[in-house]
Amino acid sequence: MYILANWKNSLSSENSKRLAESLHTRIIGKYFNINIVLFPDNISIEAVSLMFDSASMVRVGAQDGPLGPKTTLTGSISLSNFGKFCAYVLLGHSERRMLLGETDEMIAQKAALAIDVGVIPVICVNKGDGTKIDPHFGLKAQLESILDHIDSKSKFVIAYEPIDAIGTGIPADPEEVKNIAGIIHETIFISRNVKSSPYIPVLYGGSVNDKNIKSFLSLEGIDGVLVGSASLTADSFLRIIKKVSDPKHYK
Ligand code: PGA
Repeated sequence: MYILANWKNSLSSENSKRLAESLHTRIIGKYFNINIVLFPDNISIEAVSLMFDSASMVRVGAQDGPLGPKTTLTGSISLSNFGKFCAYVLLGHSERRMLLGETDEMIAQKAALAIDVGVIPVICVNKGDGTKIDPHFGLKAQLESILDHIDSKSKFVIAYEPIDAIGTGIPADPEEVKNIAGIIHETIFISRNVKSSPYIPVLYGGSVNDKNIKSFLSLEGIDGVLVGSASLTADSFLRIIKKVSDPKHYK
């Protein structure tokens, strides 16, 4: 199971360090059965990643990645810092798709580069626009763009985050999430050479907290969660971690 903490631009560097320290003290030596990944802002990545060594089960990631190996891009993390401090990268979050106009092509390019430097991309997808013939056309187009750019042996993660569930306190309907997770797995299965391809985990994100997490973890095809606001305090995030690490909460 994966539990990802998207801190967005919500914390100062001091508060990011404080939160990471508190999590370090309370997590270390426990919860070996889950993948915990923290996504601080770019200023805080180095300090937070140095707190968790490679033997720790906590990993650190960037909230976005470089566009190309030689592309000069103001505002982007440098390729060397990216490769050195990040184990994962979030790509294609709806906020970036909507506010910055990031395209599927750009997201796919960033994902391919991340894989080249050994960073695992977590690609966020949303429901997209449907057509009369295929209500999931937009979702599949987001996935296919990624699949076209990435070797079938490469590992990545998909996070399904419906736009109206992000930051609203109103999570998606679990039945709908289960249905979409099935479509995501099927689209990936059809496009890849299944024998040599690694399993691609599918996560749910959008207003997840310790009260509603159970209904998402128990869903077929869902391998974890991407948490925003409920990951911003150690107490709240720890409550979620405890539930994710203990299958009795969802099996
Ligand atoms: P939220 O954010 O948990 O605050 O809804 C999730 C996200 O945007 O990744």
